Amino acid sequence: MSDLAGLKVVVAGLGPMGRDISRVFDRAGADVRVVDVSPEVTEAGLGKIRAEAESAGEAVSSISAATLAEAVPDADVFLEAVVEDMDVKRVLLAEVAALGRDELLVASNTSSLSVGEMGKAFGDPGRVVGMHFFNPATKMRLVEVIVGGGTSEAVAERARELAEALGKTAVVCRDSPNFVVNRVCRPLYYEAQLLVTQGVPAGVVDAAASGGLGHPMGPLTLLDFTGLHTHLGSSETALREFGDPRYRPIPLARSLVRSGFTGRAAGRGFYDYGTEKPRAAI
Ligand code: NAI
Repeated sequence: MSDLAGLKVVVAGLGPMGRDISRVFDRAGADVRVVDVSPEVTEAGLGKIRAEAESAGEAVSSISAATLAEAVPDADVFLEAVVEDMDVKRVLLAEVAALGRDELLVASNTSSLSVGEMGKAFGDPGRVVGMHFFNPATKMRLVEVIVGGGTSEAVAERARELAEALGKTAVVCRDSPNFVVNRVCRPLYYEAQLLVTQGVPAGVVDAAASGGLGHPMGPLTLLDFTGLHTHLGSSETALREFGDPRYRPIPLARSLVRSGFTGRAAGRGFYDYGTEKPRAAI
């Protein structure tokens, strides 16, 4: 695919999402520059991108490490996939606003936060839009295009076209906490974690839920894959914004995160990944 040949894209944040999204843009022919918190962390992230592409039998064609100051001034698209924390995103977007061209499209991969608020932090809300990819972004087809309070119609349309040029299916959603998919899945995550705290083994919850619902993986496996810190961030957004106790995080998730057991990437979450076959840690 080379639909996006020549498009200059900057991806900030090289967690699992930023790494996969970079590969998705690369596959479509874009020129991708990646940025994390320091040159060392960026290089390490780029190394992981290469290794992950190789183990999927793919080659990376045009992804390189850069700083914001190097990459943003001539970029067409800036996509942020940094930690799910509004303060961090706000500071980053203000920095990008000072560097970017007037035509720069600014997209956020946030899974729960207000795109309108990010637009305000950027200073030109018309150019800021949500492009919420799903994990793993290299495989999942859906992109929620989130239209913030100030997002211009032209930018929302550009984001939709961009998602489609990446081979994705775009669904345009309102800017409300957790958007659509994560909102709809919230009761599933909540009840699965509640069952565990009530003594049902994680493996039983997942086997039953995935088998009964026809999902490719159970909700606890999915949360480990997502990263419990990211999940907790989304739960906290929903609770704060709606004030409804049914969105409150289960204390177990909080204590796992505090212990550093944030899921698969950390080696342990609901499951222990230190063994050949993951086994329930709870
Ligand atoms: P993560 O928390 O694992 O990684 C975030 C990365 O951002 C880290 O490498 C960190 O060093 C970097 N970072 C932090 N501040 C930065 C800054 N100022 N500039 C550049 N890089 C910075 O995050 P993950 O899981 O990859 O998620 C990223 C975003 O995508 C979050 O907004 C999350 O809500 C969203 N998301 C996550 C999904 C998931 O399944 N994990 C699914 C869909 C969206």
